[in-house]
Amino acid sequence: MEENRFTLAGKVALVTGASSGIGAAIAKGLAEAGACVAVAGRRVERLTSLVDELTSAGKRAIGVCLDVTDFESIKHAFDQVETTLGTVDVLVNNAGVANPKNFIKTAPEDLDFIMATNFRGCWHVAQEAAKRLIAADKSGSFINISSVLGEGAQLGQSAYAASKGAVNQMTRNLAIDLMRYGIRVNAIAPGWFRTEMNDAYFATEAGQKYIQQIPPRRLGDLNELIGPVILLASDAGSFVNGAILPVDGALHAHIT
Ligand SMILES: NC(=O)c1ccc[n+]([C@@H]2O[C@H](COP(=O)([O-])OP(=O)(O)OC[C@H]3O[C@@H](n4cnc5c(N)ncnc54)[C@H](OP(=O)(O)O)[C@@H]3O)[C@@H](O)[C@H]2O)c1
Repeated sequence: MEENRFTLAGKVALVTGASSGIGAAIAKGLAEAGACVAVAGRRVERLTSLVDELTSAGKRAIGVCLDVTDFESIKHAFDQVETTLGTVDVLVNNAGVANPKNFIKTAPEDLDFIMATNFRGCWHVAQEAAKRLIAADKSGSFINISSVLGEGAQLGQSAYAASKGAVNQMTRNLAIDLMRYGIRVNAIAPGWFRTEMNDAYFATEAGQKYIQQIPPRRLGDLNELIGPVILLASDAGSFVNGAILPVDGALHAHIT
């Protein structure tokens, strides 16, 4: 058996939305697996403290200011990473927002807010990464952070679920489109992990009750996302392409 199948040594990873929650945890996991990591987001002070943590642990990391809804910001962030670390060959498209609302009360601007970050942001960042990899004649792996709501439905989540459904379809289609360039595209569909996105809800009685009703009867630990990401990012996942991998303690398999 090949020893270093899961290593990311020599890879340059970019993680969007790495200033908190899932993105920060994934960035740390990628660095531990040997990748040089660019952590991206709008809250630069958060990125700086994550970079300090990684570099003092002997990892190579930089922070880049990135708003995934802004083309110029995307280009500028990729320029910075390319100059400092090299061409991005592992992209984790993780930046996302939620704003649960009844369908009838969802205004056009509510829908735009969700789609601009969760779907179009993911799309434009992937396109920029693909163009640069193709120009550099390098292979790569893109991992889109979708959600269990990319396939399933939940009350009050129509806009968010639609954005993640679009991410899933984009994942499958890009896998086919980019295969000829040696770029694999997969998604991870997390179940529930406590982050700034849902902290307030899971702190309520209703939130705690909900946790007891889902199959694992607990939230995921952020570290439980790292192994699946490394599998998809590394050569260990060389024939995994166009997949949507649930990491949710069987939530997706559950019928209430
Ligand atoms: N937590 C869960 O249970 C769960 C479940 C399924 C899927 N997810 C998905 O996991 C991803 C991460 O969410 P999280 O739970 O870790 O929530 P979080 O802690 O709120 O993190 C969201 C991240 O997205 C970034 N972001 C938001 N808008 C952005 C923009 N316009 N440009 C760049 N970055 C932006 C934020 O960074 P800045 O504010 O610094 O820009 C932040 O780092 C999201 O795609 C979410 O949909 C989460």
